[in-house]
Amino acid sequence: MKAKLIRMTEENLNIPALEEAGEILKNGGLVGFPTETVYGLGGNALDPEASRKIYAAKGRPSDNPLIIHIADLEALPPIVREIPEKARILAEACWPGPLTMIFPKADIVPYETTGGLDTVAVRLPSNEIAREMIRRAGGYVAAPSANVSGRPSPTTAEHVAEDLGERIEMIIDGGLVQIGLESTIVDCTEETPMILRPGFLNQEKLEEILGRVELDPGLLGETAHVRPKAPGMRYRHYAPKADLSIVEGDSEAVVSEIRRLSREYRQAGKKVGIICTDETRAHYTEGTVLSIGARAEEETIARHLYEVLRQFDETQVDVIFSESFHTPQMGMAIMNRLLKAAGHRVISAGSESEEKEWEQ
Ligand code: TXA
Ligand code: MG
Repeated sequence: MKAKLIRMTEENLNIPALEEAGEILKNGGLVGFPTETVYGLGGNALDPEASRKIYAAKGRPSDNPLIIHIADLEALPPIVREIPEKARILAEACWPGPLTMIFPKADIVPYETTGGLDTVAVRLPSNEIAREMIRRAGGYVAAPSANVSGRPSPTTAEHVAEDLGERIEMIIDGGLVQIGLESTIVDCTEETPMILRPGFLNQEKLEEILGRVELDPGLLGETAHVRPKAPGMRYRHYAPKADLSIVEGDSEAVVSEIRRLSREYRQAGKKVGIICTDETRAHYTEGTVLSIGARAEEETIARHLYEVLRQFDETQVDVIFSESFHTPQMGMAIMNRLLKAAGHRVISAGSESEEKEWEQ
C-alpha cells in the first residue's frame, strides 16, 4: 500500500500527523479521513487540480459535485455568495454535525469542485480529527465518501485502504464511524427548504427547527417522474456484486418468505446470503447469514449497513435477501441506501413487485 496509515482517536489527537496531513492537502495531495458519517477522501477544495485528482482516484463522473468541509462557521462566508436566513438557523442548530447545505457559490470556489454548478455544498463535521485536519489544510477540504465510485461508502479505515490505498498519500484511521450513513443534504436556497438526501437528521427534526421542509420528489424511487436534484442521487450507488432483493412485510411474514426463497435458490444451486437483525438471526438456518444490528437500537443498523454489503462482496454469494428496516428515526435514510443498493428490487412477503417505493 502506498498510503501512510496513521491511527488516532478524537480524544487523543496525533497533532504532528494532522500537521503532515495538512501539508499534503496544501500541496495538492489526497488524504482519507474519518468523519462522524462516513470516511471522506479529502483534497484542497480551492485547488482545481486537487478536485480533478479526487475524481480520478474515485473513478467518479466529474459532473457529480463535491462537498466542501469546513471546521468553523467563520469559514463559510468567503465561499458563498449569500447565506439564506433558514440556512443560518439550520447551521446554528445542527453544525457541527451530519448536515450538508447548498449555497450559491463564491468565485473562489472552482467549477472543478462543484461539478460545473453555480451552487456549492458545504458541511461542518463534528468529528474532531476531521476538524483539526481541515484547519491545518487551510480551511477548505473537498471530500466525497472515500470509496471507489459504485462501492459502498467506507465506515472504517480498512475500507478506505481496500478501495484507495494505492492511489492516495495518507489515511487517518479513527476507528469505526459513529453514524454510518452520509450526511443529510438540505437546499435552503428556495422558499421552502428541501431535503436532497435523507440522513441521520430526518424531516421531522428539520421541521422542528425550520417549519415546513419538503422532500425532493426525485427521491421517490425509480418510479419517480422527476430526476433527483443532487446529481449523486441519480447514479445507481452502493451496489454489491450479488443480486440484492429487499423483502417487505410484517416481521414474521418476511422471515418465512426469506426462508422459502433461500431454500428455493439453494436447490437451484445458488449461494444465498441473508441480511437480518439480532432479533431474527436464530430463524435462519441456511446460507450465509449476517446480522446488521438490533432493531431495538436502530443506530446499530445504520452503522453496519455498508460494512455488511462489503462483507457479502467477499463471501461471493450469488443472491442476497435482506429484511427491510423502516426504523423510527433513520428508516428513510437506511431504506434509501438499501433500495439503491438493490436497484429497487423489492419482494412483498406474499407477492412480488418490482416497483414498490420506499415511502413510509
Ligand atoms: O457525510 C457526507 O456527506 C460524506 C462525508 C465524507 O462528509 N460525504 C459525501 O460526499 O457523502 P459524496 O461526494 O459521496 O456525496 C455528495 C453528494 C452527492 O450526491 C452530490 O451530488 C451532492 O452531494 N452535491 C454536492 N454538491 C451539490 C450541489 N451544489 N447541489 C446539489 N447536490 C450537490
Ligand atoms: Mg458517496
